[in-house]
Amino acid sequence: MLNFTLQNPTKILFGKNQIHHVAREIPLNKRILLTYGRGSIKSNGVYNQVIRALKNHTIFEFDGIEPNPKFEQLLQAIPIIKKNKIDFLLAVGGGSVIDGTKFIAAAAKYKGDPWNIVINDPSPIDTALPLGCVLTLPATGSEMNCGSVVSRSSSPDKLSFGHDLLYPKFSILDPTTTFSLPPKQTANGIIDTFIHVTEQYLTYPVGASLQDRQAESILLTLIEEAPKVFANPKNHSARANLMWCATWGLNDFIGVGVPNDWATHKLGHEITARFGLDHGESLAVVLPSLLNIKRNQKKEKILQYGKRIWNITKGSDNEKIDKAIMKTRMFFESLGTKTKLSAYGVSKAQVPLLIQQLKRHGLTALGEHGDINLKQSESIYRDCF
Ligand code: NZQ
Ligand code: ZN
Repeated sequence: MLNFTLQNPTKILFGKNQIHHVAREIPLNKRILLTYGRGSIKSNGVYNQVIRALKNHTIFEFDGIEPNPKFEQLLQAIPIIKKNKIDFLLAVGGGSVIDGTKFIAAAAKYKGDPWNIVINDPSPIDTALPLGCVLTLPATGSEMNCGSVVSRSSSPDKLSFGHDLLYPKFSILDPTTTFSLPPKQTANGIIDTFIHVTEQYLTYPVGASLQDRQAESILLTLIEEAPKVFANPKNHSARANLMWCATWGLNDFIGVGVPNDWATHKLGHEITARFGLDHGESLAVVLPSLLNIKRNQKKEKILQYGKRIWNITKGSDNEKIDKAIMKTRMFFESLGTKTKLSAYGVSKAQVPLLIQQLKRHGLTALGEHGDINLKQSESIYRDCF
């Protein structure tokens, strides 16, 4: 196992009827900016629950945060914060709302050009507003990590950054808030979680047996629970399991002491920035191809994955790897998510645009070995058709 340091300060309040505890978690003297998206929390009743809980607090609102939150739009929160002396942010929504709120938390007190917060990891901040979350879409793990992903509307830039100051103080995870998710967002969340796990698991062995088993338990749980929520979107037990899996997929624990890849995410972000695929869709396209192209470097872990997750024990190593990739693709497709770029109207002739973006973002040495150069990225993208 590799050396590591781990400190995750986020408090989790999990389960039914937890939202009213938001009042206990934020001191009464705080001036709160409630941040949310484009209306789902109003139609599913979460907004009313939060407002009722905070009836004795001072609240202001900033709404309309888009999926793949946009830098330019998020900056509009800063004058509201200054004018109203806001000193606590409460994000209510999915990963985009939480990520956008983390950016606002960092930008509120930042003196330089706020784009510096996004293009550096860790961000060059020395202070940030405190934030709490009410999660409504299990996917990103943003509710229990210090990362964020922000895009620009004026150019195809979608970049991830993080800072220890951006861990939420608390996150409320009530699975009933996810009953209203459309099937596409449920699928996105399951795939995002699955691929957070593979980014931290499908690398090379370092004898980290516990992290391996934890990663495998998340993957197996996703595979077991996914069909249940498609059969019945109000299956509380299945929703609860998916929610807790998503948080565990990216709350630091399974990724410490092991090599990390993250190339699927980096390649996927460029696809979203250029062609607008949802985050989960972009990952479902890239992962099977990445595993195919990197099959030699990842051989031992893909074989372990094939055996422990998909029960693949017969055939040559290459046949087993082919089968593991096929099973992975079939799982994503079973959720209704297409796994070929052509299915999203993208053509092979557009691959150079993605390569230019990678180059501009300095993403020229990706993966757990740092050996995915632009040429290999191009091979991976070309394999996605
Ligand atoms: O805009 P609203 O009304 O909130 O609607 C959203 C949005 O349209 C809707 N939604 C959310 N909860 C709902 C709901 N609809 C009905 N019922 C509910 N309970 O779903 C749509 C998508 O929401 P979004 O927040 O964009 O989805 P997700 O949670 O998948 O977040 C994706 C963003 O997170 C980033 C992605 O790149 C992307 O920008 N990521 C953040 C990470 C992190 N901070 O650690 C890691 C991830 O790898 C990822 O990159
Ligand atoms: Zn992700």
